[in-house]
Amino acid sequence: MESIKVFAPATVANVVCGFDILGFAVNEPGDELIMEMTNKPGVNIISIEGDEGKLPLDPAKNTVSATVISLLRYLGKEGIGLNIKLKKMMPMGSGLGSSSASAVAGLFAANELLGKPLSKLELLPFAMEGEALACGHGHADNVAPALFGGFTLIKSYEPLEVISLPVPKLYCALLYPHVDVPTRDARQIIRSKVLLKDAVTQWGNIAGLISALYTQDYDLLGRSMKDVIIEPIRSILIPEFDRMKEMALGNGALGFGISGSGPTVFSLFKSADAAQKSLQEMKQMLAQQGIESNIYLSEINKKGPIVL
Ligand code: HSE
Repeated sequence: MESIKVFAPATVANVVCGFDILGFAVNEPGDELIMEMTNKPGVNIISIEGDEGKLPLDPAKNTVSATVISLLRYLGKEGIGLNIKLKKMMPMGSGLGSSSASAVAGLFAANELLGKPLSKLELLPFAMEGEALACGHGHADNVAPALFGGFTLIKSYEPLEVISLPVPKLYCALLYPHVDVPTRDARQIIRSKVLLKDAVTQWGNIAGLISALYTQDYDLLGRSMKDVIIEPIRSILIPEFDRMKEMALGNGALGFGISGSGPTVFSLFKSADAAQKSLQEMKQMLAQQGIESNIYLSEINKKGPIVL
């Protein structure tokens, strides 16, 4: 195989109560990437569409090429030539795991072209390196669901242990308000210490959420999507957060919260119609305040990256 076209999905990290340890993938949005083998050794970014010129084309600085270079080095295949064309089909710096989707697309494509020498689990540390390059911290709660699809639990970082969780039928409503909240800043405003009473509440909610996924208990899922540690601080950066939450829950959302580090917000629904209605209401309310937004409605993505 000389050339391949792949898709990798956006992801919702944290899932409200699981800061840095929980995430899930969605079918829409996501990134597309074309990778071609060439005779000239080295990894090159030929073009990037949809990034408004913001991403570096320098192969050492671009997250996609840097992770692929790292993979080739590990495999002892530095003599191979790879040309990359990236099509960004989601907003960057939005809390939708944009850099993760691109890195996963690149690693998945390279691994396929080379005859699948590594498993998805073995690709994960390379994707985490990309995350560290993109936002200064190598968390796995975007890259793991982007790679594996579905709901993913990062049980431990050292050693790295990832568990794929059951996926009940759910619709995810995503709204990206056009305000700037870089992941680096959104991480810096969080307190590094938590009160024991808050930790106890949070442990209960995480355990409840995991249990709800296994038992498909939608009420328990909703009752567990509560965050007493991160959301109270980060939500200040998101305009009309409380009003959007009221609107989503009023329309039957099981739970509502910040997607990753924001500013995108997400909610989970049993009904696609209710999810669509909630998105339209929130979008309209923000527009009245002069804030543009993108909305997406999708089921949970179960596959991760795919060959197109
Ligand atoms: N867990 C990370 C954070 C995800 O909340 O900072 C970033 O998308």
